[in-house]
Amino acid sequence: MTSTQGNLKRTEPVTASVVETVRVAVEVALPTLAGGVIKRRPTAMAVAEKLRFDRPAVKLLARLRDRHDGRPLRLRVPGRPVELALAAEDVGTLLAGAPTPFSPSTVEKRAALGHFQPHGVLISDAGDRRPRRRFTEAVLEPGRPLHELAAPFARAIADEAAVVLSEATHDGELSWDAFNVAWWRLVRRVVLGDQARDDDTVTDQLARLRLDANWAYVHPRRKQLRARFHERVTAHLGRAEPGSLAAVIAELGADGKVSPADQVAHWLFAFDAAGMVTFRTLALLATHPAALDRVRADLDGVDLAEPNQLSYLRACVLDTIRLWPTTPMVLRETTEKTSWGPAGTTVLVFTPFFHRDARLPYADRFEPDIWLDGRADANPALVPFSAGPAVCPGRDLVQFCASTMLANLLRGHGFEQASGPVLSPDRPLPATLDNFHLRLKLLPD
Ligand code: HEM
Repeated sequence: MTSTQGNLKRTEPVTASVVETVRVAVEVALPTLAGGVIKRRPTAMAVAEKLRFDRPAVKLLARLRDRHDGRPLRLRVPGRPVELALAAEDVGTLLAGAPTPFSPSTVEKRAALGHFQPHGVLISDAGDRRPRRRFTEAVLEPGRPLHELAAPFARAIADEAAVVLSEATHDGELSWDAFNVAWWRLVRRVVLGDQARDDDTVTDQLARLRLDANWAYVHPRRKQLRARFHERVTAHLGRAEPGSLAAVIAELGADGKVSPADQVAHWLFAFDAAGMVTFRTLALLATHPAALDRVRADLDGVDLAEPNQLSYLRACVLDTIRLWPTTPMVLRETTEKTSWGPAGTTVLVFTPFFHRDARLPYADRFEPDIWLDGRADANPALVPFSAGPAVCPGRDLVQFCASTMLANLLRGHGFEQASGPVLSPDRPLPATLDNFHLRLKLLPD
């Protein structure tokens, strides 16, 4: 991607009125920030779901798009140029233009992620990004549905799913808390090795740092806690346990620029979102019988002790992320003058607006087939894992772990929604789905 693509002929931005800017700040930016950008806040999520905060944001942006013919909206933010993308084509062009002229490393992300991964690839400049991205891709293997270590991962997933099911059988239902504890055991096994399975401390340390990261510049950095977290991750990586990503890292080696522990900090953080997505997908399958039938048909005769490419379940996971994106605000910062404005312009892509665009027939429905029949590919603004050179390198591993966990949970068991908003094929799905307070009743199959 050359920088000229940032200057491709496109419609000139239009400057928002003060009222429009204030409404975007109050109805779009504020609820997103309140929900917790780096670590979700359960109370804020519960309030957002109850008061349906997210729906007005999508409606407001649809009105602004119609009013301004989809031209980018230059917000009246004092001190810096900030623009909002309102056309699907612009999203495609922006994301394709990483890292120059549209850098994923923005001032906000550096301030937030710097709390726990100051050398992470996402907040690296173009020079440092290259070796860090190369390293990340070599370990995570994006583009490969079944990771080289898919076999040991599948065994770990089966073990942890069995624990989840036995606890749910005992309690009669599956809560987020129970699921999440098991999910984190799995994540630590996959990333750091079996010996890290019960190391809640490393997850708790990261959680504390992520809560600070929600406050970006406002919260002072906890240098000692970060040093302890870094040491703990490094010690786990040092064991290079076979069957874990730590072993792949050891085998690869890394040059000085890479800072593997910082890359791993991002992976651990991002696996949290994958747990939320898995649990939400389970809730959707519990409430969408036709989709569940498809899943069951696909699982017929499949040996879950072996790694499998469960295409329909993967599509279910993708559609759950479309419906409730875990990165609702994708940000880019221009590295030079482009048609978006001078170097240093921040561009905002509010993904729920594009994913739930009322002009899409499936906007508020669970429609996994769009990921299999080309409809999603035809829309450059459906970006559950972002797109372009900085697309999420964990996307295939996430889909593998999530779909395999779901397959294990659904084999021989059914679930029924026991709390939360109505999820039904006959009603528009809610704009927010608070995973933290969601409970699913376990049914014998
Ligand atoms: C449901 C789970 C996940 C979703 C929806 C997701 C989505 C995304 C999105 C939207 C971005 C772009 C962010 C931006 O441009 O600001 C991203 C970046 C990234 N993701 Fe994920 N992600 C998930 C899980 C993971 C996991 C588990 C890993 C690692 C194992 C991972 C590794 C990364 C990395 C390293 C980046 C930065 C890429 C770069 O800057 O080149 N993600 N992800």
